[in-house]
Amino acid sequence: MKNSFENANVLITGGLGFIGSNLAIRLVALGARVTLVDNMLPRQGGNLFNIEPIKDQVHVNFSDIRNELSMNYLVQGKDYIFHLAGQVNHVDSMRNPIKDLDINCKGTLVLLEACQRHNPEARVIFAGTRGEYGKSVHIPVDEEHPTNPVGIYAITNLTAEKMVLVYHNVKGLQGICLRITNTYGPRHQMMHDEYGVLNWFIRKALDDEAIPVFGDGSILRDFLFVEDLLDALLLCATTHSAYGDVYNVGSGTGISFKDLAEKIVAIAGTGRVDFVPFTRERKEVEPGDYVADIKKIQNATRWTPTTSLDEGIDKTIRYYRKYREHYWKR
Ligand SMILES: NC(=O)c1ccc[n+]([C@@H]2O[C@H](COP(=O)([O-])OP(=O)(O)OC[C@H]3O[C@@H](n4cnc5c(N)ncnc54)[C@H](O)[C@@H]3O)[C@@H](O)[C@H]2O)c1
Repeated sequence: MKNSFENANVLITGGLGFIGSNLAIRLVALGARVTLVDNMLPRQGGNLFNIEPIKDQVHVNFSDIRNELSMNYLVQGKDYIFHLAGQVNHVDSMRNPIKDLDINCKGTLVLLEACQRHNPEARVIFAGTRGEYGKSVHIPVDEEHPTNPVGIYAITNLTAEKMVLVYHNVKGLQGICLRITNTYGPRHQMMHDEYGVLNWFIRKALDDEAIPVFGDGSILRDFLFVEDLLDALLLCATTHSAYGDVYNVGSGTGISFKDLAEKIVAIAGTGRVDFVPFTRERKEVEPGDYVADIKKIQNATRWTPTTSLDEGIDKTIRYYRKYREHYWKR
């Protein structure tokens, strides 16, 4: 990839979380000047240990994206803004829908307004979710598939995505929107099972406990290793012709939860698979089978995922075996 990030000024919202911190590490290696903004939302992925390898090479601002004064200042002079801050817990979005709406919609709007007023040249890359589609009516799911979200988190993501596109189309602010599949890898929170299912399965295996698979485990999901997602984020950011549109990011391959859990047990060499009934809370936000159609992003940016599921799981297990103490706390 041509390095367009050498000396680039980059802001990452949610930069102490899973995707944000991995992205920051990659960008520092590419020579970017990186600023992270994060409010360390309780029970989410914000973790200072995530940026241990680059802690002296990035600026960290502990602020909330809903804070207009902070954002007005933080967006200034930035070439690229990766918008990854959000309320990401699907289950919690149903318990606390107002908080979800406030962070995901108001927060996005505050960021867009700050850019519009203080840095209209900035390029905004928005990390939305495959949940925006809701229940699949055909597989694989392309970008023309209907959007019928089954939970508040997915609705607020879809709304935030539309805001980014309105600012692009009407106000001239360059924005690109990704609908990202379930992503896994090092630096994800491991405190609870309410989001990040593959990482949670890994925790159960490493604790040599039963991995709870809901129902008969036949539901299909598309899992992407975080390093592949970083490639997609960076390629989308630098492919200027791709802005103003929406792209799926996924592996393009489905695996059932049953097969996934068995694979993790085999690779870890510990844990076991257990089938448990869906809880009511889980059933409410479960959209069923999902596999991404990734032709559009491949055509637009030449991105393609390169990490096999076995390799990604192995790398993730190695990371948490080494750094468990920084992630296991609840
Ligand atoms: N991980 C996935 O599988 C996945 C899939 C699809 C989309 N996404 C999206 O990618 C983004 C990043 O997700 P992640 O997996 O890294 O989650 P994460 O929980 O690890 O990171 C999110 C970060 O945002 C911060 N944050 C939350 N509200 C904030 C606010 N108001 N102001 C400032 N910071 C705030 C949190 O403290 C946390 O550090 C989210 O928008 C999420 O919806 C993630």
